[in-house]
Amino acid sequence: MIRLAILAPPALLLFLLLAMDSRPSPPSPRELLSRMTIEEKVGQLVQEAPAQAAGRLSTEEKRRVREGRVGSFLNWQDPMGMAEAQRLARKESRLGIPLLFAFDILHGFRTIFPIPLALAATWNPPLVEEVAGLSAWEGRSAGIHWTFAPMLDVCRDPRWGRIAEGPGEDPFLASELASAWVRGFQGDDLASRDRLAACPKHFVAYGAGEGGRDYAAVDLSLGKLLEVYLPPFTAAVHAGAASVMTAFPSVNGLPVAANPFLLRTLLRQKLDFRGVVVSDWNAVGELLVHGVAADAEDAARLAMKAGVDVDMASGLFAAKLPGLVRAGKVPEALLDQAVERVLALKAKLGLWSSPAEPQVPPWVDPLPATSRGLALRAAREGIVLLRNQREILPLSPRVRSIAVIGPLADDRRNALGPWPGIGREEDVVTVLEGIRSRAPAATRVLFAPGCSADDPSTAGFAGAARLAESADIVVAVVGEQARMSGEAASRADLGLPGRQEELVRALVETGRPVVAILSSGRPLALPWIAEHVPAVLAAWFLGVESGNAVADILFGLSSPVGRLPVTIPRAVGQIPIYYGHTNTGRPPGSGRDVSGYIDLPETPLFPFGYGLAYTRFAYRDIQVAPAVIGHGQSVEASVLLANTGPRAGAETVQLYLRDPAASLTRPIAELKGFQRVFLEPGEERRVRFSLPSEALAFVGPDGELRKEAGDFELRIGPSAASGLSASFRLENQRLPTPSPRGTP
Ligand code: GLC
Repeated sequence: MIRLAILAPPALLLFLLLAMDSRPSPPSPRELLSRMTIEEKVGQLVQEAPAQAAGRLSTEEKRRVREGRVGSFLNWQDPMGMAEAQRLARKESRLGIPLLFAFDILHGFRTIFPIPLALAATWNPPLVEEVAGLSAWEGRSAGIHWTFAPMLDVCRDPRWGRIAEGPGEDPFLASELASAWVRGFQGDDLASRDRLAACPKHFVAYGAGEGGRDYAAVDLSLGKLLEVYLPPFTAAVHAGAASVMTAFPSVNGLPVAANPFLLRTLLRQKLDFRGVVVSDWNAVGELLVHGVAADAEDAARLAMKAGVDVDMASGLFAAKLPGLVRAGKVPEALLDQAVERVLALKAKLGLWSSPAEPQVPPWVDPLPATSRGLALRAAREGIVLLRNQREILPLSPRVRSIAVIGPLADDRRNALGPWPGIGREEDVVTVLEGIRSRAPAATRVLFAPGCSADDPSTAGFAGAARLAESADIVVAVVGEQARMSGEAASRADLGLPGRQEELVRALVETGRPVVAILSSGRPLALPWIAEHVPAVLAAWFLGVESGNAVADILFGLSSPVGRLPVTIPRAVGQIPIYYGHTNTGRPPGSGRDVSGYIDLPETPLFPFGYGLAYTRFAYRDIQVAPAVIGHGQSVEASVLLANTGPRAGAETVQLYLRDPAASLTRPIAELKGFQRVFLEPGEERRVRFSLPSEALAFVGPDGELRKEAGDFELRIGPSAASGLSASFRLENQRLPTPSPRGTP
């Protein structure tokens, strides 16, 4: 055999040697599986929270790591402890399989951004992607590999505390945001040192719990499940999400953790999801409480058979799976499939080659300007201007004194929201501080809390009213505390806690102009404030740059662009209230006996998609062409948008579809597109949308998507409640694609 000795020059040889990744490449999951005992396999499916979240492992925990009986830890905040555990797993366990470290990084890790509901109010997916990207860099820099985010539970019931963590009420907006979150967290390469494995949660329909109560049973039609609650997860899976977390509740009678229809038929088969399914905290154990498992062994068996790969914190997989497999009650093949998915995730994250030494986060204290700059941009864009009578805002630069009043005006803790990561209260710029920093030098800024955020005392009212009377304008900062939203924080009332509304009334009674800043984790039903306070902003929980963002909007240094990702009700009694409802046979306005209330209008206080700017926009001349399309074609819709006000501003132009006659009742409107358009005063622009015929499909009684010929209406406007409409028709036959004559 002729040996071709190609003598590469030394430099090239050296380059080749260096280029060859000296880092150990991960063993193939299959090969590793072949060497694993049943206990070691089960160990990869065990996720534990360390007994000391801010400390080192105990002797017993270390033993379990050495024996390969733990695959991942969650919510651990000790880089040294994590590094020690990783070294034990890599160097002292029989197979050296590295550990995964997971954390709830929902809207920031060290830099805390606005809560996800406020980020949804930006209607700005690229911005959300940036927020996710910076959060991933911070988390991975601290040794975290896996974030339990994004939370993608569509919610139409603001009593539910976890609406704060989610994308709002609409599947289309939620899906756009879902893709952005996953792209931002994961990037193109999970092995890079600034990315995290995403974990869209909580699969699925957790936001539809009865009564808006957390963990409550979910009962809904297959159509509603597939059209409203599934789409964000579909988008996340299509964006490459590495994992998915199960939801706590039962859905149509079966808890998700024991629900093969949801986890295997929908998630694995319909969505072709190939990543890791992790249960939520002790959800496997809760199968006993739900009443679908007779004992711990039954619970472990049901969860494994339903499709749970990793058992978070219940301990039942560790305790029961080896015996179940040996007894043939759980096929070892199922166990192997789950373990293979976990090993594949660890390989994708590059854990076999990542450094085992403690990760010293590269960020500095105080937070770097780049982090704060992004947090400020996100906070500004999450603010929704709900009312601005007499154009009281932006504040005049000649304002001589401002009375900042309210229990949340100089508050740090609540601005971080219900999932504050490892954020610090001292990082927060309060509204009072923001106003003081942005106010003209000659302007006096006065402060009084007026009352507390939730206790019944009104002792501070008089002092607050006197302060208000002495000022040109009053900024009232009121709302919820962070603990009143998030997990296990549902409210049966959507008003202001404590005596805050009475405080606002007292301030309005002084006759001075009042601006209300509403800080909350959910939409608040405040009809009196909406009617009597001339300027109102929904400010949610905005993170570390809260105060600067609010002040920038108040002084006009930044114009409001936020739009509601959820409907704001007039009263809790209207719930569920959302824009995408069906017409009923007796819609309001169709006669005397109609669907509605005798004691309240059926309309919301503020509709989905609503938000004001510091200018005015006019919509005219909607055009839709062609008038008839066939399957596989698109319809082009456009509108002329003009800035008819005094200032430049950005409008979020929304496209809604309606199918007025179909084989099933259809929503009176479905969001199918949106664009943010920036216009100078007097400027006019034609805003265009292209809607493919696939967007007309809906879920039929058989659970399958279908498109039906017929007339359709498109509406383009500033919210779900207004805009210009035009119709077109879908024909069943495939029509020749019309020549691109001047499309609208
Ligand atoms: C909680 C939450 C879930 C979170 C998990 C880990 O119960 O339901 O969203 O990711 O536990 O903290």
